[in-house]
Amino acid sequence: MTDSSVPVIEFQNVTKRYGDVVATDAMSLAVTKGEFLSFLGPSGCGKTTSLRLIAGFEAPTEGNVLLDGEVVNDLPAYQRPVNMVFQHYALFPHFNVADNIAYGLRQRSPKPSSAEIARQVDEMLELVQLSGFQHRRIWEMSGGQQQRVALARALVNRPKVLLLDEPLAALDRKLRREMQIELQTLQRNVGITFILVTHDQEEALSMSDRVCLMRQGQIVQIGSPRELYDHPTNRYVADFVGKSNFFEGAVDGIARDGVNVKLDSGVMLKTPPDKTGRVSAGSRVSVSVRPEQMVAVRDRKRLPASPGLAAEAQVINRIFLGEHTEYLLRNTELGEFLVLSPRQNELGERPFDIGETVHAGFSRESALVLGGT
Ligand SMILES: Nc1ncnc2c1ncn2[C@@H]1O[C@H](COP(=O)(O)OP(=O)(O)O)[C@@H](O)[C@H]1O
Ligand SMILES: [Mg+2]
Repeated sequence: MTDSSVPVIEFQNVTKRYGDVVATDAMSLAVTKGEFLSFLGPSGCGKTTSLRLIAGFEAPTEGNVLLDGEVVNDLPAYQRPVNMVFQHYALFPHFNVADNIAYGLRQRSPKPSSAEIARQVDEMLELVQLSGFQHRRIWEMSGGQQQRVALARALVNRPKVLLLDEPLAALDRKLRREMQIELQTLQRNVGITFILVTHDQEEALSMSDRVCLMRQGQIVQIGSPRELYDHPTNRYVADFVGKSNFFEGAVDGIARDGVNVKLDSGVMLKTPPDKTGRVSAGSRVSVSVRPEQMVAVRDRKRLPASPGLAAEAQVINRIFLGEHTEYLLRNTELGEFLVLSPRQNELGERPFDIGETVHAGFSRESALVLGGT
């Protein structure tokens, strides 16, 4: 038994350079056994490099990579209890499904018996809901089915950690949603640590226990999806995770009950006390308000009682989203901003028309004042 308090993976100040390019920049993190963690960030921010460092396809230039508490910087990939699934499944096209899955087992020494290999292949096919597909050719399978074969081929090795590099990116939207749910269920059933790389914030938020948001080789914030959404540490996080309106300005005054921000246009906003510790009098800040926390009404009296903002604005665009309507509003001083209005707010009232002037605002508590970039 290994000690469950020891992280299954740990990075200690891991820097990986390719010539002048810093792919990961002094990254430190610890992954708990059984966790579903996502590396999220724009293209080129170092997600794949991080996976390759865990898998052993790369060694760090500086710092340490640990598996189960042991430094493994120089341990070759095939000796690590880790398997990787790629976007382009990298299946053997001339093998059938069963032979693809059995590949890892046949490399073992001693090699398991044919009966044992067949048993394990069947078990894996059942796990990924492909029972009966043993003898199918790879080219006879759909994209989603091929991805399941790739998962089965990795899981048959009973890795401690499964690394998934944008595994769903090649699938169409509907199939991707289905596979996201399947992957989550699969992870719960097998209890293996999953690390998923994605540039799709919705995918990261909906699937992971924790999200590690990266930028230029560095971790910007790591935490539960809810933490990143509700308590982003800076504007980059608030912008990358979910939608947000940003109002730019400078701190005009810090009071016990909150921060007053003077926008560049001269408008004053009231925001709650700063929790990031990066905000001081005079400092440049972004005030972030999620569209669902903005309110737009015809009757001014229905605006929140202690508003952070209350202003007239013109309806520029309207998108019907079923349960919500998304309005794009504009005010000369504030610029454009989005308001997500729940349908029940509109009951008995007709939706706003494009060109109509409405009252918009937000309650003081719903705003976030963010320093840094
Ligand atoms: N083998 C390599 N040789 C040179 N540069 C590389 C190599 N692999 C990655 N890079 C560079 O390192 C940075 C991070 O790449 P990568 O980890 O693939 O990003 P991501 O997966 O987030 O898109 C990029 O600037 C990329 O061009
Ligand atoms: Mg990548």
